[in-house]
Amino acid sequence: MSWKVQSNATDIDTLLLEESLFFNGNGYIGIRGNLEEGLPNDAKTIRGSYINGFHDIVDIPYGEKLYAFPENQQKLLNIMDAQGIEIWIGEDNQREKLSLHSGEVLDYTRILHLDKGMTERILHWKSTKGYELKVNFKRLVSFHTRELFHQFITLTPVSMNIPIQIISSVNGEVRNFADKDDPRVSSDDENRLTITNLSWTHEGSLVEVQTKASKLRAAALSTVTVSSNSVSYRYEMNKLSVQTIMDMILSEEITLDKRTFIADSTRYENLQESLFSIKNRTALFSFSELMNLQQDYLTTFWGKTDVTIDGDDKIQEAIRFNLYHLLQSAGQDGKTSIAAKGLSGEGYEGHYFWDTEIYLLPMFTMTNPDLARKLLQYRYSILDSARERAIEMGHKKGALYPWRTITGTECSSYYPAGTAQYHISADIAYSYVQYYLATNDKSFLKEFGTEVLLETARLWIEVGHFYNGEFRIDTVTGPDEYTAIVNNNYYTNVMAKYNLHWACKIARLVQNEDPMHWKALKSKLSLEEFELEEFQSAADAMYLPTDRTLNINPQDDTFLQKEIWDFEGTPAEHYPLLLHYHPLTIYRYQVCKQADTVLAHFLVEDEQPEDIMKDSYNYYETITTHDSSLSSCVFSMMGARVGYVDKAYDYFLETARLDLDNIQGNTKDGLHMANMGGTWMAIVAGFAGLRLKEDGLYFRPQLPKQWKGYTFHIQYQDQLLQVSNHSDGFKVKLLSGGQVNLHIWDKRYIISAENPLVITNR
Ligand code: BGC
Repeated sequence: MSWKVQSNATDIDTLLLEESLFFNGNGYIGIRGNLEEGLPNDAKTIRGSYINGFHDIVDIPYGEKLYAFPENQQKLLNIMDAQGIEIWIGEDNQREKLSLHSGEVLDYTRILHLDKGMTERILHWKSTKGYELKVNFKRLVSFHTRELFHQFITLTPVSMNIPIQIISSVNGEVRNFADKDDPRVSSDDENRLTITNLSWTHEGSLVEVQTKASKLRAAALSTVTVSSNSVSYRYEMNKLSVQTIMDMILSEEITLDKRTFIADSTRYENLQESLFSIKNRTALFSFSELMNLQQDYLTTFWGKTDVTIDGDDKIQEAIRFNLYHLLQSAGQDGKTSIAAKGLSGEGYEGHYFWDTEIYLLPMFTMTNPDLARKLLQYRYSILDSARERAIEMGHKKGALYPWRTITGTECSSYYPAGTAQYHISADIAYSYVQYYLATNDKSFLKEFGTEVLLETARLWIEVGHFYNGEFRIDTVTGPDEYTAIVNNNYYTNVMAKYNLHWACKIARLVQNEDPMHWKALKSKLSLEEFELEEFQSAADAMYLPTDRTLNINPQDDTFLQKEIWDFEGTPAEHYPLLLHYHPLTIYRYQVCKQADTVLAHFLVEDEQPEDIMKDSYNYYETITTHDSSLSSCVFSMMGARVGYVDKAYDYFLETARLDLDNIQGNTKDGLHMANMGGTWMAIVAGFAGLRLKEDGLYFRPQLPKQWKGYTFHIQYQDQLLQVSNHSDGFKVKLLSGGQVNLHIWDKRYIISAENPLVITNR
């Protein structure tokens, strides 16, 4: 099955989309798939390079600023542009720039190599003067050397003796993309970088910048080597960019190796020195050696992560594409996470949301627990900010995580759909518990998880209250952003219950297994014994709204009393509703932007019987617009859970190729990371029905009739499992490790390497 995603597009609109689709990244840096040679001047493009978490601080302007509204927010910055390599063809005064939009494009293909971890453009071009040549552009962002963005170009003459000038540049004059009419994109494109150094030395071209307010520094060091002996080099600098200009006659195949090393002051104190030494270390490797290292990394990744779909090439392409981009975007240093658009674009200003914990961590936890740990560590690293925010928000203790952030402080200026989404704190707690269940990694739990669980549990005691013997949580917003500021959002309550329950459980576990550590932790948190009892009684008494007539869980206390949105009277071009109606209009109706209660049923399924889950699914399906890309995958997973495999399949199609086919129309701003994780979940937790519970793994396998079968891998407590479902049955094979406890359709099995499991499909 193919490991390539290919395109032959040269039109400007598709190239704009491909800037996201073909981006290169490694969790630290991300480079959009812009063209080395650029585009015609009037073409729309978002030329971008990013360092995960590299931001400036910008003021939030308010008409009426009330207490504890955040004063400023972080904003991911577009950093210096080192992508530029222009190739000029012809005699001195008649040079013509090689471009997809001039001369004659005889052949053009662009490929993303998912197994090699690189992208490639293969161009056969003829200038208007008749010079003909082939150019192959390869690029990778290295997983081996995190700071390296590598471009490697092969030029092959078709005509004889072509005069060529190549200009390689590093440009410090960059801005972020802005769109005042779309709340999902920044509305401000002010230049926030000051160039502090621009130089050329024998080490290469160097551009250093500093942000205006956060005072973070970044540097890019770029070197270019051409394989031809007859090339003459020259350097030019102005205030904004450094250029290396190379002249030669192209009479045989030559290669150009451009290496740009990028680093920032949150990782390195002395940027110049660090980059020089990283460059020198990497100089020991040729491009093909670095390519091999890249491929080795990818081979290991795919060995643990690959999903195959038999009988549907388009879906196969999509699932690998999605997994690959998740890897490219995941912060791996414990200081960063995965932004809503990963490192592929600037949408949502590079902020981290609950998307990571609920949509992305399931995949990492079950396939690459090492990476999952890093993402969880990031949340631990901002726990102090969450504690401060809880106090600022009027709570006496506990941790309230920000709705959107980079460094840990709240970046949402619209509290009804921002800060009010208190559920993010329970989502983070949930992801620690799931990681623990998947790995049994008690030391990580002890070092990081316990504190997060206890502090978030405290938040629920602070924000909720007992009323008539029930524990209730008022004035919050659930995941559905078309309903705001409500009492007893089912999702929030059930997740808070899980949080409170597990905080007690883990606390007792640590207390028993390591009393010294427990004592130290208790004293660090000034935690009183009665608090644990309080957590348990709140969990036990948690009010979970249920409507007996409809046999569903209402989304909140008043949801069902509202009028249902006039779907018939809403023209198709009025979606997404958020771009066409004032929030208050939307809030007055029963209409959901995304899965809310249905998602809660997935995350904590044992809280409700089958019939309530099914009736709720039916109910919410009719009033959900899926205006958020976080929705269809949940309806796919839960469709499979409640017995609608065909429906599950239809929703799955909407998620799988959402970016490849630009279904939401805004892929240019960046890829939809949560949805990409959701695709994995729709297969593994949807069609295979995987749930992670205290007593082992649970499956409810089903096979959509459109497929011949599917296969995936998961890691469970140090054991690697291969799971497949084909017409001859559902199979689980232990590839490494001792034995595993499984439940299939609620029946218990134990499998070992010698005894794989095969069950005939229902
Ligand atoms: C969704 C949120 C999500 C955010 C970032 C919004 O449109 O409603 O649930 O966290 O996008 O992906």
